[in-house]
Amino acid sequence: MKDKIEALRKRIEERLNEVKDLNNLNELKNEYLSKKGPVSELSNGLRDMDVDKKKEFGKLITDFRNDVYSKFEALKEKYELEELNRKLEKEKIDISMPGLDIQSGSPCIEEKILEEAEDFFMSLGYDVVEGPEIELDKYNFEMLNLPKEHPARDAQDTYYLKDEEILLRSQTSPVQVRAMLEGKGEKPIRIICPGKVYRKEDINPTHEQEFDQIEGLVIDKNISLSDLKGTVDAYVKHVFGKDTETRFRPSYYPFTEPSVEIDMSCIYCDGSGCNMCKPKGWITICGAGMVHPNVLRMCGYDPDKWQGFAFGFGALRLAMLKYNMDDMRIIHENDLRETENFDRKEVK
Ligand code: DAH
Repeated sequence: MKDKIEALRKRIEERLNEVKDLNNLNELKNEYLSKKGPVSELSNGLRDMDVDKKKEFGKLITDFRNDVYSKFEALKEKYELEELNRKLEKEKIDISMPGLDIQSGSPCIEEKILEEAEDFFMSLGYDVVEGPEIELDKYNFEMLNLPKEHPARDAQDTYYLKDEEILLRSQTSPVQVRAMLEGKGEKPIRIICPGKVYRKEDINPTHEQEFDQIEGLVIDKNISLSDLKGTVDAYVKHVFGKDTETRFRPSYYPFTEPSVEIDMSCIYCDGSGCNMCKPKGWITICGAGMVHPNVLRMCGYDPDKWQGFAFGFGALRLAMLKYNMDDMRIIHENDLRETENFDRKEVK
């Protein structure tokens, strides 16, 4: 029995020396240590022995089996460790590798125009005031001197929500009405009102259905058209550079008298005419005027004591001009290929 054990030990050791990896080791384990393998078979030899011998050789066999097991285990651990190290080596993070390029946009240029306007007018002592986008017809039209059948209503194709009484505001001018009602005919007013407006327009490179306006209103006791001129001129110079000029052209709005349209000199061609100013050298950017006495009266201000001016800019239009874009739809589209470059297009 002893010889048998020693012969088997030698054979197993020889075979173990040839093992190259975990697979080999498992194959060998199956061959020698399975239930019917040679190590288990040794016990068959005990069957015909007497009790003392059974004890003696039984112990030898058990020790041998334990010994073989631990050899297999030790090798298994060795190979597993090797494999783990190989894996770790493969998955090592090289912190000197360049990172993945994550595309990022830049702030919306329409939004930037609004923020810039807020900052500028606040520096002149204006308050920033907002009004609701769902507005009453009464504020959006009637109290701005546009009664129900007024033909000028057609100029702003309006989204009505309910019974011609509630609408999506088509202009920020109703914020003027709200501010005057709050001023109760007693307080001077100096406000800037940025905000969204909605119109049923055919969408094209220069028209959107949803866009921002920047409304301004000043009510006080000695306000004249030249205050309007100086204010708008300073803002336009702030946005487009100090060489930019502004001019007034007579116009018509029901809520102002006199009414004007304000043009700025083209920043792209210095007045000689180009694609942007088509080809006049001047670009219209604002509607404005002196607040109509009817509006003052309806909103509780006595037109014999108070005067005011008001203006309304289209923020998308300003953004297009400042960032040299010929299609305003791109500003709302969130296409990273465009938004990435917004900042680089700034003209000043
Ligand atoms: N609300 C006008 C529009 O959307 C713009 C405007 C014109 C605003 C004259 C004013 C103003 O405050 O006085 O076309």
